Amino acid sequence: MKKILITGGAGFIGSNLIRHFISKYPDYELFNLDKLTYAGNLENLHDVENKPNYHFIKGDITDREFINDLFSKYKFDFVIHLAAESHVDRSILNPLEFIMTNIVGTVNLLNSARHIWKQGDHLFYHVSTDEVYGSLGAEGKFTEETAYDPRSPYSASKASSDHIVRAYFHTYNLPVVISNCSNNYGPFHFPEKLIPLAINNIKKMQPVPVYGKGENIRDWLYVEDHAKAIDVIFHKGKIGETYNIGSDNEWKNIDLIRLLCKIMDTKLGRVPGTSETLITFVTDRPGHDLRYAIDPSKLRNELGWNPEQSFESGLEKTVDWYLENEVWLNHVTSGEYLKYYEIQYGR
Ligand code: NAD
Ligand code: TYD
Repeated sequence: MKKILITGGAGFIGSNLIRHFISKYPDYELFNLDKLTYAGNLENLHDVENKPNYHFIKGDITDREFINDLFSKYKFDFVIHLAAESHVDRSILNPLEFIMTNIVGTVNLLNSARHIWKQGDHLFYHVSTDEVYGSLGAEGKFTEETAYDPRSPYSASKASSDHIVRAYFHTYNLPVVISNCSNNYGPFHFPEKLIPLAINNIKKMQPVPVYGKGENIRDWLYVEDHAKAIDVIFHKGKIGETYNIGSDNEWKNIDLIRLLCKIMDTKLGRVPGTSETLITFVTDRPGHDLRYAIDPSKLRNELGWNPEQSFESGLEKTVDWYLENEVWLNHVTSGEYLKYYEIQYGR
C-alpha cells in the first residue's frame, strides 16, 4: 500500500485532489496534513472523511520538530505538497506569513523526507504556480524553460520554494518533481479569489470589484483537470523534471466577469444585464501582473494529459455548485472573511 502525505489537503485544490485520489486509488493510504488556516476547511472533505484509507492530521509545516516526528512515526513513502499561503493580495498585506509557510515549511518537509528516504520508491511532488515566471506582455507563453521572474511576495515565495526543491534534487538526489499550474477555478474555491468572490457578490447583489480596467489576463483551468494532471505527473513524471499545467484558456478579467454575470442572470432568473450593473472598477493591485499564459505541450506530448472541461460549462458547473452550497458559502464568508474584506476593499 502506497503511503502518501498530502499537505494542504483541506484547501481548494488539495480537497479536490484527495477526492480524486480516494475514488481512483482505494488501495493508497492518504494522510492529509493541514493547519486549517482561514483557507483550510474540513467541510471540504465531508464525503471522504469516513473512508478507511483517509486520515486527517492537524499540524503546521513550519513546526520543524512536529514534522520530523510525523515522518518518523508514519514513514510516508510519497509526499504531494500543496500546503501554502496562496492569495496574492494577502501576500501584499502580510509577506512574512508567506515566507514562513511557503519557504520554511517546504524546507522542513524536504529535510524530513531526506532523512527517512534512504532507499526504495519515493517521490516529493511539489505543487507550484505559473506566477513564478512573472508577467507576460501581449505575446508568448510560459514554458518550462522560461526564466523565473516573480513579482509579488506570493510568487517570490513559491519561486524560492521551487528553487529549494530543485536544490535538494541536485544536492542530495532527493527524488522530486515540480508542476507549475495556471489559475484554477471550481468547487470549494475560497471566495477571496476572483471567480468565487464575484459569484458570491453577484448572488448577494453586492459590488464586484475589478482591479484597474479589468485588462489583466489569466489562463483558467478547471480544478478537476488540475487534479488529473497531478495524478498523471505523480505516476508518470520523470524525476527531477518540471511540468507546466494549463489549458490554453486565456481570459481578460473584465470579459470573464461579464460572462459570469450573464450565467448568473440566467441561473437566478434575473433580467439580462442586471448583474453587470454590479461591476465596479477599483484601485489596481500593486505590481499587478499583466498576463499569464501556459504552454502545456510538454505535459501533453510526454505524459498524454489533456484537459477535459470546457470553460463555459466549467463555469456553469461552478456557479451551480456555489448556488447549491449556500451553507458552505455562508460559513466561509463570515467572521475572519468580513475583516479581511473590509481591509482589502473598504466597506
Ligand atoms: P488554499 O489557500 O485554498 O489552501 C491552502 C491549504 O494549505 C489550506 O488548507 C491551509 O489550511 C493549508 N496551510 C496553509 N498554511 C499551512 C501550514 N503552515 N501548515 C499546514 N497547512 C497549511 O490554496 P490552493 O488554491 O488550494 O493551492 C494549493 C497549492 O497549489 C498551493 O501550493 C498553491 O501555490 C498552488 N497553486 C494554486 C493555484 C490556484 O489557482 N489556486 C494555481 C497553481 C498552483
Ligand atoms: P486572483 O483570483 O486573486 O488570482 P491571481 O492573482 O493569483 O491570478 O485574481 C485573478 C485576477 O483577477 C487578477 O488579475 C486580479 C484580478 N482581481 C480583481 O480584478 N478583483 C478582485 O477582487 C480579485 C480578488 C482579483
